[in-house]
Amino acid sequence: PPTLLQALTAICTRALEASFPGISCAIHVAPSTKGAHYQNNTAMPLFKALKDAGRSAEAASPKAVAEKLAAQMTACDTDGLLARCEVAGPGFINIFVAPAYLESTVNSILRHGPMPPPCAPKRVVVDFSSPNVAKEMHVGHLRSTIIGDTISRLLEFCGHRVDRVNHVGDWGTQFGMLIGHLKNVFPDYATKPPPIGDLQQFYKDAKKVFDDDEAFKKVAHAEVPCPRQAGDADSRFAWRQICEVSRREFEKVYSRLQVELEEVGESFYNEYIPPVIRHLTEIGVAHDSDGAMVLFPPGTKHEQPLIVRKSDGGFGYDSTDMAAVWYRLLELQADWLVYVTDAGQSQHFELIFAAARQAGWVGDKRLDHCPFGLVCGDDGKKFKTRSGDATRLVDRLLDGASRSLLGTSLWDADVAAGKLEPYTDEELLETARVMGYGAVKYADLKGGRVNDYIFSYERMLDDKGGADRPLTARSPRRRERNTAVYLLYAGARLSSIQRKAAATSGASAAELVASGAGVALSMPTELELALALARFGETVEFTTQTLLPNKLCEYVHDVCVKFTAFYLECKVIEEDAVNQSRLLLVRAAQLVIKKANELLGIGYVDKV
Ligand code: ARG
Repeated sequence: PPTLLQALTAICTRALEASFPGISCAIHVAPSTKGAHYQNNTAMPLFKALKDAGRSAEAASPKAVAEKLAAQMTACDTDGLLARCEVAGPGFINIFVAPAYLESTVNSILRHGPMPPPCAPKRVVVDFSSPNVAKEMHVGHLRSTIIGDTISRLLEFCGHRVDRVNHVGDWGTQFGMLIGHLKNVFPDYATKPPPIGDLQQFYKDAKKVFDDDEAFKKVAHAEVPCPRQAGDADSRFAWRQICEVSRREFEKVYSRLQVELEEVGESFYNEYIPPVIRHLTEIGVAHDSDGAMVLFPPGTKHEQPLIVRKSDGGFGYDSTDMAAVWYRLLELQADWLVYVTDAGQSQHFELIFAAARQAGWVGDKRLDHCPFGLVCGDDGKKFKTRSGDATRLVDRLLDGASRSLLGTSLWDADVAAGKLEPYTDEELLETARVMGYGAVKYADLKGGRVNDYIFSYERMLDDKGGADRPLTARSPRRRERNTAVYLLYAGARLSSIQRKAAATSGASAAELVASGAGVALSMPTELELALALARFGETVEFTTQTLLPNKLCEYVHDVCVKFTAFYLECKVIEEDAVNQSRLLLVRAAQLVIKKANELLGIGYVDKV
């Protein structure tokens, strides 16, 4: 089914055709911030289009255009979407959605779950995370991992086929040095995995030998930089051992964050580099410049060219990415490529995309670089990490969350007083896990991708909200209301209301739905909440098209706010009787929040 916004836009399109046949004008329908549900802002540009077409006689003013359009919208509304349309100001059309339509949308959510927007399935490559072997996996890679995972989840939910590609930096001249060093210090590397605890230390040691020892330097140079494709079996093996050490570290991070990725490292594209350069040269896109092969794609204002082959014949980051973009577009036949990296690489991707266009590889396919801002520490300066910190970072998140949950006497007191259902140890751990990772992911996503982001445990998990009252799901700090903890708290309340209702009436919300029951909405806060739920599809559509996860964060926060307002005004259980319609509305809100959380990569807790 179309999203609510699409359905409204379709009505406006029909109304335009009916009221001013033959005039073409883009339709502008958007959610309204002032009182109405949506606003149709087409009248002003339409008035101008009429004038330009010499048809001014048909309407005296934008307001007159709006009046005519609004009347037609009501006439064209064959599905009963509209409660009414009102012309306001110089020609805005305020749109109010009919309660019956909202009811049927809520009922559909109850039956089928929240639905993705309709779309033509595409093959999408999302290149994200992409740390480098033997170098630190820093918070920037964590940010790429979190953003890329959410983008992938959204695309998958919309029905696209997604390749989640981890473009690991796994080759380069430094590998000759690493392989040489491995052979020296762990001669039996071929029979047992080398006991390398800290690969970055290993890297430093190798570098030192490399710098001090001329003989070793020669040996290192003799090793090929990409033993995946060339070199002897020994070197290939040594290279694999080194990559494996890094891989195990990375895997720890991915499994803790519950992110799935397929490793297709830089080395994979190595064999494609020479033919791609040959092709680019043949079609006149790549040029010789003092022995180097360079590209100056048109339409980019950068002085720096892409260097696909250095003057010493070596390949680098540009070479790999040119081969990778070729591979993804022409071999994989992907329709859409998304790259998630820090904003510092914007120019690089602008050049790569322009070159791919110039080579004729792109056509109407979509290429996106999703840049994100710096990760800063509490001091507002670039976040610094030491070796191996990514995993430690991730561990500390869990710690922080467990502490905020466990270390509270308040909690125990509430359980003892029978106000709270006691947790089992597993439940407690799982809740801590969801809260810890949810807090970090949400804090990262909600701020807007392009902004710098201040990484602060204190802000995410601060337990000093007031006096000694800890920040738990049960006492979200008032001034940090837009946190994962707040969302998880709202979600858990939705679950607990349903548990209580089932205990009171003997029938669960799911059973009611199965028996064919639906909602009947009349209170303003009920309708507001239902409208928010009905906007799920268009929000997913917008977030996916713009690749801006903060839009989905704003949405799910808004749903929680609407739920809270509803819950203040409307009783679900009153004097031992369950209001069936409200219980079902609670259930629908839970389904939407759960799905939105899932798309954001944050979990859901049932109890607080
Ligand atoms: N390894 C790179 C880095 O650490 C990121 C790679 C991004 N992907 C790409 N296709 N260039 O910055």
